[in-house]
Amino acid sequence: MLIKKPADIRPSEITSQSNYCNRRDFLRAGAIAGGSLLGANALGAVVPDARRAKLADVRASEFSTDETPNSYEDITTYNNYYEFGTGKADPFENAQDFEPRPWTITVDGHAEKKGTFDFDDFIKPFDLEERIYRMRCVEAWSMVIPWVGISLAEVVKHFKPTSKAKYVAFETLNDRSRMPGLRRRSLDWPYREGLTIAEATNPLAILAVGLYGEVLPNQNGAPIRLVVPWKYGFKGIKGIVRMRFTERQPDCSWNMAQPREYGFYANVNPDVDHPRWSQARERRIGAGLFASKQPTLMFNGYGEQVAHLYKDLDLRRNY
Ligand code: MTE
Repeated sequence: MLIKKPADIRPSEITSQSNYCNRRDFLRAGAIAGGSLLGANALGAVVPDARRAKLADVRASEFSTDETPNSYEDITTYNNYYEFGTGKADPFENAQDFEPRPWTITVDGHAEKKGTFDFDDFIKPFDLEERIYRMRCVEAWSMVIPWVGISLAEVVKHFKPTSKAKYVAFETLNDRSRMPGLRRRSLDWPYREGLTIAEATNPLAILAVGLYGEVLPNQNGAPIRLVVPWKYGFKGIKGIVRMRFTERQPDCSWNMAQPREYGFYANVNPDVDHPRWSQARERRIGAGLFASKQPTLMFNGYGEQVAHLYKDLDLRRNY
């Protein structure tokens, strides 16, 4: 992953507080939008395929942070999605023509229920929830993002993994004709990630299908991506086409590329530095060039919900 140099910092990052969306206004706007669309699910797709279409019947989550979300612009123009290029602006610039339909998700491996599902059929059994999460990138920057998603725990339960299943592995679409970045071997494609079953069934983990109450933009992983807020951002695999229940720890892209730098667990941990930089502090995107960095919290502040998963694990060795 590339570290941003001061010269790369966009003027739009030097924004004032007034550019921020006030959380109360945001919730009110969401309620109005939600109200005007009640019943839209009955009319067709749960997640419409039109860009920036509002999602209906989204309920609020008890797991949301009270922190002010980053602006829509910050969240959708400063991205990592190597299938569309390795620069932070590349996904926004190169993913606009990407068509995330038709889209299928294959579920296989050690599960009772398997198959290839159309995206809409895949998400239909689950409730949409808004989850405003703190997100921390391994490159020591952070954002607060109002995701809309479905509970990964519910998805895992739905497919009934057998007792052999110890992990869930995910894969991104690998289609050179639609993703220009795949022509370069910046990673060993397809992008891969994985979680233990215990992590995947933790109530905080979601599969996101929306942002700011709207359909997920292409550059953020449309139509469906993983969000695990207590882990570094690279675990949040985008454009998922496959979910496989495995007995062995699955291959993960950044761990395969640079195993000394990126581990399987990738839990946010201010006490374990990346070999090339400190993880003790983070820069909040949008806070302005001169804002001081803020301390990074263990498990990104989600310790109460997840620390028990790692009580017998040496987090220095299992980074
Ligand atoms: N998923 C795929 N398929 N390809 C990628 O390059 N980058 C990861 C993750 N998911 C990546 C991916 C990294 S490094 C980060 S920090 C997050 O996506 C960024 O998510 P965001 O752009 O929505 O903030």
